[in-house]
Amino acid sequence: MNVEIISLPCEHLKRDSYDLVIIIDTLRAGTTIAKALHNGAMGVYPVATVKEAKKLKEKVPSSLLAGERKSFKIEGFDLGNSPLEFVEDKIKGKNVILTTSNGTQAVKKFKEYGPIVSMALSNVKSVANFSNSYENVLVVCSGSHGEMALEDLYTAGRYISYLDFPALNDGGIIAKSISNEEPIKILKLSHHGRYLSQNGMGKDLAEACSQIDVVPVLKKDPFKIDFFGGK
Ligand code: MLT
Repeated sequence: MNVEIISLPCEHLKRDSYDLVIIIDTLRAGTTIAKALHNGAMGVYPVATVKEAKKLKEKVPSSLLAGERKSFKIEGFDLGNSPLEFVEDKIKGKNVILTTSNGTQAVKKFKEYGPIVSMALSNVKSVANFSNSYENVLVVCSGSHGEMALEDLYTAGRYISYLDFPALNDGGIIAKSISNEEPIKILKLSHHGRYLSQNGMGKDLAEACSQIDVVPVLKKDPFKIDFFGGK
């Protein structure tokens, strides 16, 4: 198993295509996608812009609009991007259209490179078990507004710790070297973790550490629209 970790979506890739592409966005899109599916959402439709989200809502009127800009809920949307909002009685049986500043942008950029799954700290063990049978795996840290995100690199390191002796690039070796720290300590230390805490969203950090068993796989529905469904 060859695992290539890139710390930002703009990094150079070694290959033109991969057997599996894992998108990490621990604070918070990856955590939110995992929580939504774990709590019974029919599917999570990742889109890059507010305009796309509203256009898709017209196609799937019963869906919920969710997402953030600068981490705050987009005006007129049903939900923001806090995983704590995605409780069963709100989203069970519903389709969720999600647009965020980093995670859903990375999905759009990398879906041509191979089959996509979404990962965060909360489902890292499930994704590691799911990916063990793949040969060439690309792991993309979404980062935050073009800057490396400590929490994403840490999540990549935790992912590697569950694998059986993968071949790693230098990004993987660096990620592995920080993977023994306590999760909540890393999230509180991270720039985005501090930003969320300073803006009243600190509870999301503990939520990001709680483990759930779900592997969000990007699929295509009859409308030829990509959506995350459970494996
Ligand atoms: C994301 O992509 O997850 C967001 O930019 C970060 C957040 O929701 O705070």
